[in-house]
Amino acid sequence: MASHNRDSRRQRLQPLAASLLAVALGFGVASAQADDLPKLATKTPLKVGFAQTESNNPWRLAETRSFKEIAAKCGWQLVMTDANGSNSKQVSDIQSMIAQHVDLLVFPPREEKPLAPVVLQAKKAGIPVILVDRNVDQSVAKAGRDYITFIGSDFIDQGHRAADWLIKATGGKAKIIELEGTTGASAANDRKKGFDEVIAKQPGMSIIASQSGDFARDKGRQVMETLLQAHPDVTAVYAHNDEMALGAIAAIKAAGKQPGKDIQIVTIDGTKGGLDAIASGELGASVQSSPFFGPLACDVAQRFAKGEKIPTWVKVSDRFYDKSNVQESMQYGY
Ligand code: AHR
Repeated sequence: MASHNRDSRRQRLQPLAASLLAVALGFGVASAQADDLPKLATKTPLKVGFAQTESNNPWRLAETRSFKEIAAKCGWQLVMTDANGSNSKQVSDIQSMIAQHVDLLVFPPREEKPLAPVVLQAKKAGIPVILVDRNVDQSVAKAGRDYITFIGSDFIDQGHRAADWLIKATGGKAKIIELEGTTGASAANDRKKGFDEVIAKQPGMSIIASQSGDFARDKGRQVMETLLQAHPDVTAVYAHNDEMALGAIAAIKAAGKQPGKDIQIVTIDGTKGGLDAIASGELGASVQSSPFFGPLACDVAQRFAKGEKIPTWVKVSDRFYDKSNVQESMQYGY
């Protein structure tokens, strides 16, 4: 491994180096040309549609709360929907917002492909769109051309950081079960890509099973129960979110094994439940994935309305939690 790679890994694992919510306006990042996109009115209140994917975990609830809290400060009149975990409901929720002529649409696309065409429908109807949290298929709808921007984390890097921690924690020897998020979601696709590509370079580590737990605690527990029976030699778990990791912890305990001792677990999110599990020693580490997009979306919308160029990816930088910093990090749990 080149020494600069080792250094950059060390930096990524430095919890104090992680900033709260840094908007990257870096070189080489393409910008949205205000001319190509529907215009955004500068009136108050602005009618803003927020179409949530589901509300089955603390991360989703924190994301929704972030929009409710910013609405008054930003002069937004929010129209909110919840797709209850259904792509087709999220599409029809957004279509109904288009029919109501909202001034701006903001949403986390549940899956990359099924939610891409409705972005084009909004553009055709003259409604600007900001995507938050997850992205859509760029071969169908492109940031800067069809919608203003994508505000969100670097999911591939989250996967790298989870893998880096696991390599250190296991001394480079592990048989890993991977619990994937919702199939077809950019968060699941990229978290898998990032983790798998780092682990593939480790001769002593292998991913012995990889299956979706749909980002849900119950599903994560059920999948882990089944996989534990098929792979009793498992020594590590990588879950794409805290909720599935907490489900896996329950399954591991029910199987008479000790999470954190017999099986090392690394995950992503930084929920309160995740931080508590790190403090108790059952969970090894969690890469933060911030759900607090409300203030960033407000800022982007106001700058776009004034005619400013917006980068096609407003990147959110995330903290990293493990036993070395979990106590002082409790304040960031949600
Ligand atoms: O897209 C972000 C992911 O979606 C979060 O990690 C997860 O908890 C949520 O359901």
